[in-house]
Amino acid sequence: MKVLNIVGARPNFVKMAPLLAAMQKSTVIDPVLLHTGQHYDDQMSKVFFENLGLSKPDISLKCGGGSHAEQTAKIMLAIEPVLVENQIDLVVVVGDVNSTLATSLVASKLGIPIAHIEAGLRSFDEEMPEEINRIVTDRLSSYLFTTCEDAGQNLVNEGIDTSKIFFVGNLMIDSLIRMQHESRASTIHSDLNIPENYGVVTLHRPSNVDFPKTLHQILDALEVIQKDLALIWPLHPRTKKAIEREGVKNRLEAMKNMTCISPLSYLDNLALMEKAKVVMTDSGGIQEETTVLKVPCLTLRENTERPVTILQGTNQLVGVRRDDILEGYRKVPDVFPKAPPLWDGQAAGRIVQVLEEIAKRDQTPSSEVCRFGTAYTHGKAFDRHQKSSEESGGLLPTSEDGRSLR
Ligand code: UD1
Repeated sequence: MKVLNIVGARPNFVKMAPLLAAMQKSTVIDPVLLHTGQHYDDQMSKVFFENLGLSKPDISLKCGGGSHAEQTAKIMLAIEPVLVENQIDLVVVVGDVNSTLATSLVASKLGIPIAHIEAGLRSFDEEMPEEINRIVTDRLSSYLFTTCEDAGQNLVNEGIDTSKIFFVGNLMIDSLIRMQHESRASTIHSDLNIPENYGVVTLHRPSNVDFPKTLHQILDALEVIQKDLALIWPLHPRTKKAIEREGVKNRLEAMKNMTCISPLSYLDNLALMEKAKVVMTDSGGIQEETTVLKVPCLTLRENTERPVTILQGTNQLVGVRRDDILEGYRKVPDVFPKAPPLWDGQAAGRIVQVLEEIAKRDQTPSSEVCRFGTAYTHGKAFDRHQKSSEESGGLLPTSEDGRSLR
């Protein structure tokens, strides 16, 4: 079975590396890797391939930059001939970026089945570009691989047939476990002269960095926090542009305990997060990684598509107002529950097992191990005000025996 695997942006590379490695061992799957070029800087792309041991793409498109429509359209136009000419049996897309959406639109119209990895995550916030990408991609996919139980329930609530849903665990965590030994050899701490106690900041969501009022609220909070704890902030290109546009560069430079740096490699970033006292972020993947690293995470957003990181991780949803961020910072806990089910480094193997069944039978497989069907409650929007089972009216995910996970 010829499988075309699509990557485009930073988090895609992290998820694809363990999956591609597992596919390359399969005697049934013939994997092809395509990079859309959505992320194109060495720091945002090349270094991730090197760090993760991800083989060079078989096909590279150059579809970086531009507005969402431009980016999506460029990828669609470039990918159609690839799909037509290469006799692809299945397309694998990961996550929720524009490359995921663009590929899914084209493949579905050509009648090529799509497998979506990290299906079913919902923030229930349709102002978020990634939420639109998730909903459309899931709707068009034939095989939906989920990372957590609430994602499966979201899909069922949207009318997706349970026979298409496979609960397999989290590829992001496969990479983390696979690369942890190497990340611990990183010299980032001595290179940057980082003190023993420090926090990490990462921000790139348009809703945070492209809205001056929000950006200023966040900076107000960071200004206070850095007086208490040294902060390291690897700046995403979008954020760097926003800071320059807003003319707040001087303000950041005046913060004595704040160090702004270029985007980090995967290994250095993992090393930096692992020893941090707290990570403040709006990234989806980092909410998951900190959960497994047992590092407190403050998510600077009003909602999250990853409620499992709050229920079973280290994550606190604090919003984007100065005072709320500061309150969350003061309330950082020091005891954490264990990692969510199947976040064990084995997700890639489970996905390949399902794909091999698809290849062999050319029909929906019947794997009992991976099939969705354990006990979940309702997949309602999880916002930061919905913090306990009681407060949420019993809407939080439960364990298999029906107990609340908190
Ligand atoms: C994208 C994803 C987001 C993901 C994030 C990880 C979408 C809708 N968003 O957001 O889900 O969490 O990647 O980083 O797909 N740029 C560079 N160099 C690069 C890449 C981007 O300068 O290597 C610039 C772009 O030209 C653009 C800005 O940074 O001006 C933002 O890039 P873009 O790909 O639009 O989205 P991200 O914010 O990175």
